Amino acid sequence: MKKDKGYVDSEYLRFVAKIVAKYKQRTYTLMHIELGHKVLDVGCGPGTDTIPIAQLTGATGQVVGVDYDEKMIAEADEQAEKADISQWVRHVHADASLLPFEPGYFDSVRSERLFQHLKDQDKAMTEMVRVTKSGGWVVALDTDWSTMSLDTTEINIEQRLKRFHTEHRFHNGFAGRQLYRLFKKRNLADISVEMAPILITNYAIAWQIAALHETEQAAITAGVITSDELDRLHKSLEQADADGVYFHCANQVIVAGRKN
Ligand SMILES: C[S@@+](CC[C@H](N)C(=O)[O-])C[C@H]1O[C@@H](n2cnc3c(N)ncnc32)[C@H](O)[C@@H]1O
Repeated sequence: MKKDKGYVDSEYLRFVAKIVAKYKQRTYTLMHIELGHKVLDVGCGPGTDTIPIAQLTGATGQVVGVDYDEKMIAEADEQAEKADISQWVRHVHADASLLPFEPGYFDSVRSERLFQHLKDQDKAMTEMVRVTKSGGWVVALDTDWSTMSLDTTEINIEQRLKRFHTEHRFHNGFAGRQLYRLFKKRNLADISVEMAPILITNYAIAWQIAALHETEQAAITAGVITSDELDRLHKSLEQADADGVYFHCANQVIVAGRKN
């Protein structure tokens, strides 16, 4: 498929999954998954979460992943086959704004780092709530890319690059801060909000996770920073890395709520 804004491949998603493992676990807990439950993961990627969730529902349950990227769906199905769980785990090619399921079908529905890629967050949220049964849980985790913060002497350049990254790499780089409002507007009960910060003290890993390589060239083309400024920023960060003091953090937000 055509690479949309903010596209990431499955190798990247598996790498990030290790770094955010404890937050993934936390979303599973907030979903209150039990044996026999029907669970949906919207924007499932290559099955990073449907495969572990299958252990929580057991074979008497049903786990469904949805993604609009056919390649992700094929890979996710392959992973389910390999893990010998495809009798109760399946992956469906669909858009988050039009979920092909009956109202109230699932005991719980989750999304992770999906809303930052959406042009219409309201439609997806409405759909996630629609397919959740009354009393079931909806849980979303997303990044607020504007909270990305690097310890550098070149603060002015860092701030311009960060803002460009937030606004131009993603359809909705501010997604994390908006989840609370999306949940409140749906009149969900027992809403909880938790922060899920990411801290990285290695320059190469931080740049890879934030996918800043593509942004920096685009920022130069757009006239947001000059190549001299980019060199200065790189030098300051390389120095910090060499001195063992590289510091890079960003906030993610996890919101959970129960359908009335
Ligand atoms: C950052 S990845 C996260 C994947 C997975 N949730 C994880 O945690 O590894 C975002 C995923 O959302 C999918 N996606 C983006 N927009 C979508 C849409 N409108 N409908 C369904 N899936 C979408 C992408 O194809 C990608 O697999």
